Amino acid sequence: MSFHIPEEKINQILHTADIGEVVSQYVQLKKAGKDSAGLCPFHSEKTPSFTVSHGKQIFYCFGCGMGGNVYRFLMEYNGMTFVEAVRFLAGKYNIDIPEKSLSHEEETRISQRERLLSLNRQAADFFAANLNNSQVGRIASAYLEKRGISQNAIKSFGLGYAPDKWDRLLKYFSSKKVDPGQLEAAGLIISRKDSSGYYDRFRNRIIFPIIDAQMRVIGFGGRVMDDSLPKYLNTPETLLYHKSQSLYGMDIAKRKCRETRTVHVVEGYMDVIKLSQHGVENAVATLGTALTSDHVRLLNNFADRLVLVYDSDPAGIKAASRSADILAQASDARILATLPAGYDPDDYVSKFGPESFLDLAEKAPGIVSFMMDQAVAHHGLSVKGRVRIISEMKNVLSSIQDRIERGLYIKELAERIKVDEKAVLEVVYRKETEKRRSPDYGKSTFQPQIPAQLPTPIRDVVPQSGRINNSLSVGAGVSPFEDRHRMEKDIIAMMLQRPDIIPEIDRRNILALFINADLKAIGQSLVGHPDAPASDLFSDDGPKERVVAELVIMDYQWKEDGYMGLISQFESSHRRHENLRLQERIEAAENENNQQLLLELLKEKQIQASQGYA
Ligand code: GTP
Ligand code: MN
Repeated sequence: MSFHIPEEKINQILHTADIGEVVSQYVQLKKAGKDSAGLCPFHSEKTPSFTVSHGKQIFYCFGCGMGGNVYRFLMEYNGMTFVEAVRFLAGKYNIDIPEKSLSHEEETRISQRERLLSLNRQAADFFAANLNNSQVGRIASAYLEKRGISQNAIKSFGLGYAPDKWDRLLKYFSSKKVDPGQLEAAGLIISRKDSSGYYDRFRNRIIFPIIDAQMRVIGFGGRVMDDSLPKYLNTPETLLYHKSQSLYGMDIAKRKCRETRTVHVVEGYMDVIKLSQHGVENAVATLGTALTSDHVRLLNNFADRLVLVYDSDPAGIKAASRSADILAQASDARILATLPAGYDPDDYVSKFGPESFLDLAEKAPGIVSFMMDQAVAHHGLSVKGRVRIISEMKNVLSSIQDRIERGLYIKELAERIKVDEKAVLEVVYRKETEKRRSPDYGKSTFQPQIPAQLPTPIRDVVPQSGRINNSLSVGAGVSPFEDRHRMEKDIIAMMLQRPDIIPEIDRRNILALFINADLKAIGQSLVGHPDAPASDLFSDDGPKERVVAELVIMDYQWKEDGYMGLISQFESSHRRHENLRLQERIEAAENENNQQLLLELLKEKQIQASQGYA
């Protein structure tokens, strides 16, 4: 059985549904010009900044940056999956959904995922049944009781037990005629070295099913009940399980995360379960790995504030510092490193209770203050110390996307260690340039920009003619990089508003010059589908969808000749940028005394000059 819905149906439903009608079932909307506005359901606010565009069939919140089409609204508001949202609207608008016949290849890939998911689900049931069995699960139950895990938590986290035998799971599945190769692909069994057969991966362990936000069992963790090693065993990387993208407890945590817009990221399975049991349900754990961009990106869908809870020992603090530039990709990242020595969240909440834990979390410093405190404590304020502090801080500072926020932190640091603010700015800008050149720059670093001030009235925030001048003037303190980012956004906004200029953008190959990977991807899909309504774009990619929604709702106005003006400005800014880069490389070659390279670069410069680059 396949749950895949044909693309045409998805679009038909999207175009039949009315976003205003759907949203107003949940949010009280008031007419404001062509649009409607109301209090945003995704963050708490007193004055409405949540906007629904009836014409464009898109919603966007100027306060928190959430936005997208009607499917996105249902997914975010009701925690539905995409398919659930489609089915929900199909029901509401009486549209039948036929099953689509898939190509052979699609069928194989999708059905393989589904097969593995089904095996995982069955395995989870098998482990849970063992734990429930008064005979087999006796010792495991006693262990969980000793650790203070409630019956309720056992149930809601679906905990289980893998028996102390080599082949219980294997036998269970062979009685169901399941191919062992599939079990191996799911990471549940391991092939013997001499290829004489298989054995169970998890034996005599407490089992923690790893369940994603869509309630799918993607993998398992298993803990020993004594001091033997390894203490934990996890599913290896499979078609379903990638530890760098997965978080333990997401299924349980997501509701409370949405409610509170806060998530606590801890290190261990037990920490998540204990916090949840004490009412702090908005906790997830990384799975034996440092926090990644993918983790933060996932969490950004559910929360604004991310509190990273680390041990307060030197190792924990080091780990927290290493995660700093990743953390800076959350809109409000905090580091809680004040649990007493020797306590993890599990021990702490069990001994001191949830209020005390939440109190510490509430007081946890922001990522930059935290790093500053650490750096000052570590290096002192001698001249050398101050140089080291700046060098240590440049990474996290250059990761902050919001220009105003970054500027404030730079100022704070400069004042605190008594150096010239411009010097810090310079170092941070250099770091940014360096990062931009690294091959994976821009992969997951895009954050929807939240206006510093809520525009009122929401409509026509930009005067008829002011847009171009506004966005292209390189104001004091605006780095060329930020200026380019702004321009890239402008170009995408323009493409959304005026599909007729898309061929020209394509012809001049403007998108190839984009630095921001998300904006580039949005542009490319517009080139591919110039007539697609904005509400169709990126229904499967929340962050990109939000950018589109923001740009559409802003509804910038340009003068007729502004369109081409923007394109040429962008091109020349790109040339300036290239020129600058070349100049830097020439200087570097001079410094290294690399004559060969220097010659080549000078030749390149000559070519640039002859093309009018300089
Ligand atoms: P308890 O000892 O049961 O309280 O678990 P804990 O979560 O407090 O353990 P710890 O702080 O030692 O480890 C934190 C997390 O790191 C665990 O939840 C695991 O995800 C991971 N981890 C710890 N030990 C191992 C191991 O031996 N192998 C693997 N793969 N992961 C481990
Ligand atoms: Mn522990």
